[in-house]
Amino acid sequence: MKNFIENLPKAELHLHIEGSFEPAQMFEIAQRNAIEIPFKSVKEVEEAYKFDCLQDFLDIYYQGANVLIKEQDFYDLTYAYLQKCAAQNVRHTEIMFDPQTHTDRGVAFETVIKGISNACADAQTKLGVSSLLIMSFLRHLPEESAFKTLEQSLPFKHLITAVGLDSSEKGNPPSKFKNVYKASVDAGYIPLAHAGEEGDASYVWEALDILGIKRIDHGNNALQDPKLIEEIIKQDIALTVCPLSNTALQVVKDIKDHPLKKMMDLGLKVTINSDDPAYFGGQVNANYMAVQKALNLSKDDLYLLAKNSFEYSLLSKNKINKYVEELNTYYKANS
Ligand code: ADE
Ligand code: ZN
Repeated sequence: MKNFIENLPKAELHLHIEGSFEPAQMFEIAQRNAIEIPFKSVKEVEEAYKFDCLQDFLDIYYQGANVLIKEQDFYDLTYAYLQKCAAQNVRHTEIMFDPQTHTDRGVAFETVIKGISNACADAQTKLGVSSLLIMSFLRHLPEESAFKTLEQSLPFKHLITAVGLDSSEKGNPPSKFKNVYKASVDAGYIPLAHAGEEGDASYVWEALDILGIKRIDHGNNALQDPKLIEEIIKQDIALTVCPLSNTALQVVKDIKDHPLKKMMDLGLKVTINSDDPAYFGGQVNANYMAVQKALNLSKDDLYLLAKNSFEYSLLSKNKINKYVEELNTYYKANS
């Protein structure tokens, strides 16, 4: 199974670029920018990565992002992640980035987007990995701040495909961002959002009904409400599930209790993703491996998950078909 997963062509649809920041690279960039970080060694950093909840993690995650200053830093961070994609047979990725985490520290929007998008362009040419960008609004900040970010993004609209909503979920429901989502859709961005990670089913309802999202990031708590499950299936909306993130943030107590297989059995369209791989103990293939083992997933299940990852990507139908063909060829030769 390990071999089957490692070589399986797949897409990653839920990845925060700031969450791919490995401790060793964080030290390197901190040093070249002469920025102090509150850790003395990679080991100390790794020991700090023990979380009781989402907020626990976010406090450390934003601290880590503080060392990113120059365009080259964003380029290096992104290219390192894309190299990992190539090594795992991730053929396509949809990368979230949090502009406010950087612009609020005085880093220009242009610096962030240029570094990230140049790395994506180089990875397409040199590594054969395609990517799209999702600009995520921080939901713990006011809607006006998201509006400001939207405005800053407009000169770079051609580089960004979608908007997302992340950070502290509880107490910051999707309805808080109703107006900025409407403006984002008017500007041509596809609306996506984290919902139902720690927030209850009502957050998922709001994301669907008020923000009109086309894909749900996490969505675990949608299982609380049978009518909501029915609605998600009716709208043919996929869930970007992140198993190792869920156990690291105590959304799911034990990987053996992960609802991924149950979601599949209910008819929900599920994909497997790493969320913040540097913090949660594994890249996308490690996520596939963990659920395969814990839930005894078959090759058929794994094939279906990989197929969903292409079919529910934001790529054109043409490109999706090309990737699914590649997957089918692989599956025929290896099932
Ligand atoms: N930002 C980075 N990872 C996140 C997650 N899992 N949930 C909400 N916001 C995030
Ligand atoms: Zn996430």
